Amino acid sequence: MGGREATLVLLDENGIRCDGRKVDEPRRIMIKAGGLKNADGSAYIEFGDNKILVGVFGPRDVHPKHMSNTDTGILRVRYHMEPFSVTERKNPAPSRREIEISKVIKEALEPAVMLEKFPRTAVDVFIEVLQADGGTRCAALSAASVALADAGIPMRDMVAACAAGKAADTIILDVNNEEDQAGQADMPIGYMPSLEKITLLQLDGVLTPEEYKKCVETGIKGCKIVYELQRKALTDKYFGNGEK
Ligand code: CDP
Repeated sequence: MGGREATLVLLDENGIRCDGRKVDEPRRIMIKAGGLKNADGSAYIEFGDNKILVGVFGPRDVHPKHMSNTDTGILRVRYHMEPFSVTERKNPAPSRREIEISKVIKEALEPAVMLEKFPRTAVDVFIEVLQADGGTRCAALSAASVALADAGIPMRDMVAACAAGKAADTIILDVNNEEDQAGQADMPIGYMPSLEKITLLQLDGVLTPEEYKKCVETGIKGCKIVYELQRKALTDKYFGNGEK
């Protein structure tokens, strides 16, 4: 990040990115609903080279009890990176970054989950990043939505997430690790497509007002692509492979 010089060509003369994609092309995305028999709901996502597993438990009693709320249920999210998920071993203890990402994912899911239906209870979301390659918070958020739906938790909408950004002075969809490191801006977006509401928007880097607008529009296009795959993951699990 920060536009530092890199020998890597982020965008060639034909408008092709360092991993062979066009500027508006997302990485390969695969989402599977279910998979963990001991969780109430679960999901697995591959988003480019990101590989993330999510388990959801609840609604269930809150421990410690003083954390419960008599008016509503609470959502708790733990985002955790495996030590082997990145090239340089990550200390398994929670880092500041993991605490921040847990918080932003929780806040991005809260508007979608009907927690008011389950006062005094907690819904716990455990996110395990098995392999990371830039954009894990968006991939994790998208998988967490599917895992919540798989757990049968009532939701107003799915939260679909995808980042847009800027590299080689161009607005791009779905920023990979190299583009995150050597590019000019990274904007993760979480979006509820049916309600047309943004629930996560962060920006690392500097954009002009026009670029900002284009980045948001581009990111939302990515979210809509993710949304279709989230729906497909759920219909595949609950209605076989046929779209119903
Ligand atoms: O993953 P995301 O883009 O949401 O968050 P980030 O903080 O912008 O991290 C970007 C990428 O840096 C991650 O996806 C990992 O590939 C990499 N990373 C790493 O190599 N080692 C870490 N300890 C943390 C992140």
